[in-house]
Amino acid sequence: MNSFPVVDPIPLPAPVWLFKALHIVTLALHFCAVEMLLGGLVAGLWLSFMGRRAGKSQLGGIQLNAAAALSKRLPVVMTYVINLGVPPLLFAQVLYGRALYTSSVLIGFYWIGVIFLLMACYWHIYRFNAKVENNLRAWPMALAAVILAYAIAMIYTTNMTLMLRPEVWRDMYTASGVGSHLPPHDPTVMPRWLFMLVGGLTAAGLWMIWLAGRKTIEQPVRVYLATIGGRLALGAVVIQILLAGLVYRAQSAAIQAGLGGNPVYAAAGYAWLGGAAAVLLLAAWSAFKRPTGAGPGWAALAIGLVTMLAMALYRDGIRDLTLASKGFDVWDRVVVTNWTIVGLFLFLFVAGLVCMGWLVSVLLRAKPVSEKVA
Ligand code: HEM
Repeated sequence: MNSFPVVDPIPLPAPVWLFKALHIVTLALHFCAVEMLLGGLVAGLWLSFMGRRAGKSQLGGIQLNAAAALSKRLPVVMTYVINLGVPPLLFAQVLYGRALYTSSVLIGFYWIGVIFLLMACYWHIYRFNAKVENNLRAWPMALAAVILAYAIAMIYTTNMTLMLRPEVWRDMYTASGVGSHLPPHDPTVMPRWLFMLVGGLTAAGLWMIWLAGRKTIEQPVRVYLATIGGRLALGAVVIQILLAGLVYRAQSAAIQAGLGGNPVYAAAGYAWLGGAAAVLLLAAWSAFKRPTGAGPGWAALAIGLVTMLAMALYRDGIRDLTLASKGFDVWDRVVVTNWTIVGLFLFLFVAGLVCMGWLVSVLLRAKPVSEKVA
């Protein structure tokens, strides 16, 4: 029996390909911010812990300053996590509402809980930064924020995989209609969640390579950031490649064949592997050469963006192929395009991007202020 609710009679106001393109691009940007948050918190936790343990030694001071360079930026990163999470959520609801609303209702208790976990996480990030900057014991705040962020990530992974399993929906709803019942075991959840968490460490390593090029940070701290960032990204990307293999192997044989047989998804898979190889080389070079110029940071940013885009596209393939195998074709929708609205939307979208670019350029041109804290 088909468990998907009936399709909304209101036609789509824009072509499916346009919604998909916007969805994948904005989701890739959300993932960039999420990965920086997840990994930046762990790196900040470790650096603040080690820095405090090392006391007043030179290394301790460097580690505390490196922790501060990350922690002062984490609240800003969190704003991007949230604001870049809204657009893909809206596009996903338009395209996959029948599946996504159902799974969200089924785990409604946890899904709504994200709001409160998010607020608690945000608060701990602010406290973490305040404590690092005042040279106080900060790592417990970072630890709490990490646990909260990891829990949020788990809820997202649970929902994004439950939406692909219409076969378990009825039993779950029968067991509990209040949304407090978690889905039965799914072999794809753990590899997918771990892939995102370890990806956070890769992103944090790349972020530290970028920070090593900032002139507002003291030179010894920049050298340290380049070294540690390189080592972190190097180790993490190797584990991430292994986890990517696990994510792939957790899919059914039909989905694996579909991913390999579709030229777009196959290209996205290879692009991700190419990006991972580029991360590996850049990270190894940074760990060994300890560069403090701006170039490696921009290279890290470019590689990170391309890799994330490839990952978002490949992940989209897993979803579309899985849903199609269960009777849900995302392309099968009535479309009545309202080009005036689409045009206005695209105009505002581009204008928004231009404004953001201008804001970033103002930030880059601002008079540098030393970030030294200890
Ligand atoms: C600390 C906060 C957050 C973390 C750690 C986080 C983490 C994640 C992770 C790990 C995924 C991928 C799940 C998977 O497919 O396995 C994800 C997907 C997603 N997140 Fe976030 N997220 C956060 C906040 C938000 C917020 C506030 C929003 C929206 C307002 C949001 C919107 C989305 C959407 C829409 C997707 C997936 C869309 C799709 O599959 O089409 N996230 N997030």
